[in-house]
This record gives sequence, structure tokens and C-alpha cells, in this order.
Amino acid sequence: MISRRQFLDTLAVGSAGLAIGSTAKSYAQILGANDRVNFAIIGLNGRAYAHLSALKANQKTSRITHVVDVDSTILQKYAGAVQKELGYTPTTDKDFRKMLQSKDVDAITVATPEHWHTPMAIAGLQAGKNVYVEKPCSHNPHEGELLVQARDKYGKLVQMGSQQRSSPHTIEIIDKIHNGLIGRAYFAKAWYVNNRKSIGIGKEIPVPATLDWELWQGPAPRRAYKDNVHPYNWHWFKLYGTGESLNNGTHEVDVCRWALGVDFPKTVTASGGRYQFKDDWQFYDTLVTSFEYDDKMISWDGRSCQGMRLYDRERGSVIMGTNGSVLIDRDGYEVYDHSGKKSDEFKVNTAKTSSADLTGRDSMTDLHFANFIAGIQSGQKLHAPIEVGNVSVTMLQLSNIAWELNRELKLNQKTGHILDDPKAQQMRTREYEKGWELKI
Ligand SMILES: NC(=O)c1ccc[n+]([C@@H]2O[C@H](COP(=O)([O-])OP(=O)(O)OC[C@H]3O[C@@H](n4cnc5c(N)ncnc54)[C@H](O)[C@@H]3O)[C@@H](O)[C@H]2O)c1
Repeated sequence: MISRRQFLDTLAVGSAGLAIGSTAKSYAQILGANDRVNFAIIGLNGRAYAHLSALKANQKTSRITHVVDVDSTILQKYAGAVQKELGYTPTTDKDFRKMLQSKDVDAITVATPEHWHTPMAIAGLQAGKNVYVEKPCSHNPHEGELLVQARDKYGKLVQMGSQQRSSPHTIEIIDKIHNGLIGRAYFAKAWYVNNRKSIGIGKEIPVPATLDWELWQGPAPRRAYKDNVHPYNWHWFKLYGTGESLNNGTHEVDVCRWALGVDFPKTVTASGGRYQFKDDWQFYDTLVTSFEYDDKMISWDGRSCQGMRLYDRERGSVIMGTNGSVLIDRDGYEVYDHSGKKSDEFKVNTAKTSSADLTGRDSMTDLHFANFIAGIQSGQKLHAPIEVGNVSVTMLQLSNIAWELNRELKLNQKTGHILDDPKAQQMRTREYEKGWELKI
């Protein structure tokens, strides 16, 4: 049994995506496809290296034709990495709108700061491209809804970068949970801990000559350039980022939601604060959120600056049911009986897990790209289509709103819209820089 699981987890990428719920016919179609999918990668500093690694793993079916970044140092460095890894040099662009005019590009990937995710994804769809958008797919709930509508309107594929949806052991164990492994699953707990340093108090400094700050800001209202925002620390500023809940909670709460088989909850409550440091960071570093359903519940426990692990892990999800529980993480799973005694376990048999790499280069991301490419080439069902990814993202954005207002939100469970709370409803969208409002 273990060897079959290991087989699924370590299969060569070109066929592993196909091992999951795919027919012999589509397999033949993909292997027979002469055309490789041409990719443009946008936003090249961190996560984009996992995209490069995944496209290298899928190089029989894909090619990187364009790379795009508003920071010329980061752009040149990444173009060099593509040359080194793949043996050819892609076209470099500062402005993604120029790249979108190229008929060569079939698909874009978006790994920019989050205020850009939906605007770029929609522009990509409008230009006839398929889109792989990193999690979170949007900056706020309104944008997520627009992105789902745009996908329907323009008829291309949108996969969200919640790569655990392509992890064979996660697919397998969730299927078993759905088939009664732990009885009726009713409570799921998601967590993530890190030991991040303070981001300090930023100083206004001249914009570096290598950076187009205007295009970096794009849809966000204009601000002077400060030395603690780009790269990476934009995560902790509300104009651009969405906090740890969307940065990492998205992955773990998505697994919980998938395991329990639920969409939007009835209510959301969230409490926490910025306790560890006093600095420019605009979100919590400690947060506990409850998503309640009629007879189920998901809890999210996020800590950015306190490294005490839960269940001996920095991140993961535990699913509890009437007959037992299952702990799931990126490296495997453990099954427990109702008294808490371990009855089964599985560990991924590869060094290539994201626990080993900061940009998240891992076999699940390779498989997630394989699934996206097969979706484009032969219509394979996506593992994280945007309407699925967007529910988990919206839930955590609602958690941010509940935290900020310090009150429970009641939801329409079909739409995820907030009920009876005009102030909270206003916070479903953002203020856009003039001329950058979103239209589909
Ligand atoms: N799926 C995962 O496991 C995973 C892991 C890490 C990060 N991510 C996501 O990837 C995204 C990027 O994160 P990161 O850590 O790489 O951020 P980063 O700040 O290190 O890199 C973002 C890059 O985008 C560029 N950029 C900004 N505006 C741009 C524009 N208009 N056009 C082109 N480039 C632009 C910046 O110059 C920068 O180089 C985030 O949304 C993050 O949540 C996902």
C-alpha cells in the first residue's frame, strides 16, 4: 500500500498529473501534443523561482517565452536563471501589457504583490491568455468575484496557486475522509507559525533607479516610496498585501474546507493583534479565527512572529470526525483512532518538499503546473479552478474584515456576501488609484 502511494508521489511530472482521475484517451492526447504551452512569468523575485522549477520539470510540454518585472535588477537576474536552467533566454519586459500583446504567449503566471493579482489575471483573460495566479487570487472579496466572472466571460482557464490541491497523498487521504475514514468529519483546525523579524519603521527614500514604482503601485493609491515595502514586506501593508491569513492560511484552510466538503460558513469571527513588535506592520501577528457552519467548524490559528509549533509542525491541518482524526501536511498524513492512537501514516518519499525551500519549490507545485498545462492542452479538469480557490481566499479576507471591525460577520452561504452590516460590506472592495478601476 505504501509503495503505491509513494509511486503516486514520485511519478515523473509529465504523467503524474494524469494519474489522477484522467482517462487513457486524454493521456494519449497529451503525450501526442506537439505544441508546448508558451508561458510568460510576471513578478520574478521569490515565488517565481518555484514557477521556473515547475516549468523545468514540465519542459516537454511548456516553454518560458517571456519574463516580466518592474525591477530591472530582479528581471535580469531571473532571465539569467531561465538561461541557466532551461538553456535559452526569454524575452524580458518591464510592462506586462506589452507582453500581453504577444500572440506567442498562451498562458501567464502571476507572482506579484497581491494588489496586482486580479487586475493582471483579468487583463490576461481579456488578451486571450490562460492564467495561473498565485494565492491569494485577489486583494479583496469583490475582486475574487470579478475574476470568476471574467473567467466565465472570456472562456480561458484560471488555476489558483494552491498547489496542495495537486498533492497525490492529500488527494488520496481527502478522498478517504469523504468515504468515511473518520466517520462524519465535523471539525478542522488549520495552523501556521513563523518567526518573522520586525519590519521596522520605514523611511522615505528616493525610488531606486532600477524600479518603476508607478507601475509597481498600479491599482493601489499612490504613496511615497519607503525602504521597507519592496520586495516581500508589502505582505504586511493593507494597500498591497493581505496579511498572514492569506499568505499562509489560504493553503491550510483550503485543505480543511476541502476535507469537510464545505463552502462559505454561516459566521466568521476573528481575534488577535500585533503583539510581538510595534512597527509599520498593519495586520495581526497572532490571530485565531472561527468559521462556523450548521454542524461543522473550521478554526484558523496563525502566528507570524512566535515559532512555537503545533502538533510538532510549523503548518498543517487536522480533520476530526465521529470515529477518528487525520493530520495532513505537505509531507504526508497521520490517521488516529477516536481515542487519539495512531493507526496509519504516510510520508512523502522525496527531498523535494516545500518544507525544504523558501520559495516553495516542490513536487506539488510541479504537479499543479502539470495539471494546468494538461488543462490547456487536452481539457484535463483543473485541481484548483478559480471558483474553488476563490472561496477559501474570500473566507480569509472576511476573517481580516471581522478582525478589523472586531465583530462577528454573518454570511449568505451561497454567495459569501456579508449580511446586515453596511460597514463590513463596504470593506469587500478597495479604493483604486484613479484610472485603475477594474472592469470586465
Ligand atoms: N503558492 C505558494 O506556496 C506561494 C509561496 C510563496 C509566495 N506565494 C505568492 O506569490 C506572490 C509573490 O510573492 P513573493 O514572495 O515572490 O513576492 P516578492 O515581493 O518577492 O516578488 C514580487 C515581484 O513582483 C514584482 N512586481 C511588482 N509589481 C509588478 C508589476 N506591475 N509587473 C511586474 N512585476 C511586478 C516585484 O518587483 C517583485 O520582483 C505572493 O502573492 C505570494 O503570496 C505563493
